[in-house]
Amino acid sequence: MPTVELDLSEAILRLKKERNAVILAHNYQTGDIQDLADYVGDSLGLAYKARETEADVIAFCGVHFMAETAKIVNPTKTVVLPDRDAGCSLEESCPGPELEAFLEQNKEKNYYVIAYINCSAHVKALCDVICTSGNAIRIVEKAPADRPILFVPDANLGAWVMEQTGRKMDLWQGSCYVHVEFTRDSINRIKAEFPDALVVAHPECTEAVRLLADEVCSTEKMVTYCKNAPVKNIIVVTESGMLHRLRKEAPDKNLIAGPTDHCACADCKFMKMNTLEKLHDCLEKLEPRVILPEDIRARAEAPLLRMLEQSK
Ligand code: 13P
Ligand code: SF4
Repeated sequence: MPTVELDLSEAILRLKKERNAVILAHNYQTGDIQDLADYVGDSLGLAYKARETEADVIAFCGVHFMAETAKIVNPTKTVVLPDRDAGCSLEESCPGPELEAFLEQNKEKNYYVIAYINCSAHVKALCDVICTSGNAIRIVEKAPADRPILFVPDANLGAWVMEQTGRKMDLWQGSCYVHVEFTRDSINRIKAEFPDALVVAHPECTEAVRLLADEVCSTEKMVTYCKNAPVKNIIVVTESGMLHRLRKEAPDKNLIAGPTDHCACADCKFMKMNTLEKLHDCLEKLEPRVILPEDIRARAEAPLLRMLEQSK
């Protein structure tokens, strides 16, 4: 590591101590951030860690909805994120007022609303239970049998859960702009080069891509899958940051970035807005921080806690 980066990392660790802070990072963060974090994981693991922490400050290296989730379960703690503009196309695809209007227009249906965690606090406040890619099947299986389900905002994850559970759901038509870029053709081209390779894909991918995958799972489960896979070559069809964690934890494997038709790997522009410099600044200034209206926070907390309870 060059000296400047080393100094910056040391300064971050010093500030972390002074602030009594914990650094939580998603699997899609850059390698330098992952290496400095106290915990690196998927949305579910991060939600549990945020709930358990005894630190005064949570520095959340991920996207905005993830930091917001940490605040929902920790109203008295300071939650900061390196870049306030680190959003998510799924969150954007389901604005709270639009969902509110939809539910009002369809009141007679008495929907049981399941919200994928990639959504705003406003949307969380409107739903019955939250899920992540790591527990979506379990959460849908526990939904009341006598009510129709509305699943928001990811139509691809929703379709995959319907396939897995056999439960019919009405799907909000949102998508992740990164995962829908992977195509059958681009994966088949790599498979032609590595015929024995296994394919692991995130459930935010389209059905055409999921059908090519040997395993469809959350980013955390990808780690176990790659470690235990009986072959060396594995094509990893998700955001590029995942490869850093996988290469560390499954060093004997040849992990091949899932390609899109445009480039060899897929970066989430939102996840990549965070840098070590911005992490340093947010710990120093305790800004930008997540602030939530208390009524929204409290209403969003109930479905989130229900999820944590149901996914044990
Ligand atoms: P995971 O919960 O599987 O880490 O997924 C989060 C995400 O944003 C995927 O694009
Ligand atoms: Fe959102 Fe997709 Fe980025 Fe995940 S990869 S944070 S779903 S835009």
